[in-house]
Amino acid sequence: MRILLTGGAGYIGSHTAAVLAERGHEPVILDNFANAERDVPARLARLTGREIAVIEADIRDTEQVTAALRTQPVEAVIHFAALKAVGESEADPLRYYDMNIAGTIRLMQAMQAVGVGRIVFSSSATVYGQPESSPILEDAPTRVENIYGRTKLVMEDLIRDLARTGKLAGAANLRYFNPVGAHPSAMIGETPRGVPNNLMPYVTQVATGERAHLNVFGNDYPTRDGTGERDYIHVMDLAEAHALAVEHIAAHDVSVTVNLGTGRGTTVLELVRAFETTTGRKIPLVFAPRRPGDVASYYANPALAERLFGWRARRDVEDMCRDSWRWQASRAGINDV
Ligand code: NAD
Ligand code: WQD
Repeated sequence: MRILLTGGAGYIGSHTAAVLAERGHEPVILDNFANAERDVPARLARLTGREIAVIEADIRDTEQVTAALRTQPVEAVIHFAALKAVGESEADPLRYYDMNIAGTIRLMQAMQAVGVGRIVFSSSATVYGQPESSPILEDAPTRVENIYGRTKLVMEDLIRDLARTGKLAGAANLRYFNPVGAHPSAMIGETPRGVPNNLMPYVTQVATGERAHLNVFGNDYPTRDGTGERDYIHVMDLAEAHALAVEHIAAHDVSVTVNLGTGRGTTVLELVRAFETTTGRKIPLVFAPRRPGDVASYYANPALAERLFGWRARRDVEDMCRDSWRWQASRAGINDV
C-alpha cells in the first residue's frame, strides 16, 4: 500500500516509515519539521535503500494537504503529527487544541475531499489517567487529567464517530504506553529538544555526560522499590504494530481501539539497573520529590493487539536500553558500543 505518514519525520513516524518500507509498502512522509530534523528522510533512504517521498506541509493546511494527496494518492493515513508535551499543553491550551484537534479535523477534510477512508491514529495510554488497576484493558474508564490527554481523547472520539457514520471505512486508535529505544542501526532515533522530560532520553544523556545525574521523581510510591512503574515499549515493536494495524483495517474495514504495550511493568530503578548492566555506563541518581501529575504504576493488557493484529512486543528492556544508548552514543560521537 502507499501510505501517508503525517509527522513521519518524527520519532515514532520515522521508525514506522522504515518498517513499512521493509514490508514492501510505500510510505509518503508529510511533516512541517517543527519537531524533526531535516535530514531524517535522507537517513531513512540510506537505511532502507529506497527514496521516500516527502511533502513539507502543515496538517492544518487543508488545501495544501488535499493537493498533495491528489498528486500522491494513498490508500491510508497514519496520523502521528501532534504536539505531545503535557506541561506545555497546560501552559498553552489553545496551541494544543489548534494543532491537535483543529489539525486532525483539517486533515480529515483533506482525506474526505480525495476519498481516503482509512486512518491509524497515535493515541496514548495517558487517556486512562490514574487507572484503578493494571494491567489496563481498552474498556477501562478514560479520565484525562491534562489538556494533552484531552486532545487525544477528542481525536479518538472524532475518528470513532467518522467510522460509525460511514465516513471512514477503517480506523485504528492505537494507545501507546511508553515508547523508548531506537532503530538498531542507530541511524534514526529520538531527538528531544532541550532538557528531556522523559526518563530514557534523560538517562542516555546522563550516560554521555551531558547531564550530571538522574533525578528520580519519588521513591515512596506503592511499587516494588518505591519508584514509578511503567510499560516501556521498544519503538521498533511499536512501528511493527502500525504496519499490522494498517494492514488489518485495510483487509477488514473495521474501527478498533487497541493498547500497544508489552504487558510488563518496569520501575525507574529497574530501568536504570538494566541500562547500567547493558551498557556498562554508571548512572548517578538523586532521589527527588514526586513529579506533580505522575501515576504510581500502569501497564497494558495487550491481548487485543495480539488477537486482532497477531502482534506482540518481542523486544525486552535490555534491547530498549541497548538501542537507546547506541543512538545517543552515536550522536555524542562515543564509539564504545
Ligand atoms: P515527534 O514530535 O517526534 O513527532 C511528531 C512529528 O509531527 C514531528 O516530526 C513534527 O515535526 C510533526 N508535526 C507536528 N505538528 C505538525 C503539523 N501541524 N503539521 C505537520 N507535521 C507536524 O513525536 P513522537 O514521539 O513521534 O509522537 C508521535 C505521535 O505519537 C504523537 O501524536 C504523540 O502524541 C503520540 N504519542 C507519543 C508518545 C511518546 O511518548 N513519544 C506516547 C504516546 C503517544
Ligand atoms: C516515566 C517514569 C517518572 C524523568 C509521559 C507522558 C505520556 C506519554 C509518555 C505521550 C515516571 C520517572 C522521569 C526523570 C524520573 N506521552 N522519571 N526522572 O510520565 O509515564 O509519560 O510520556 O502520550 O503522556 O505523560 O513518562 O518517561 O516522563 O516518566 O524519575 O527525569 O520515570 O516519574 O515514573 P510518563 P516519563
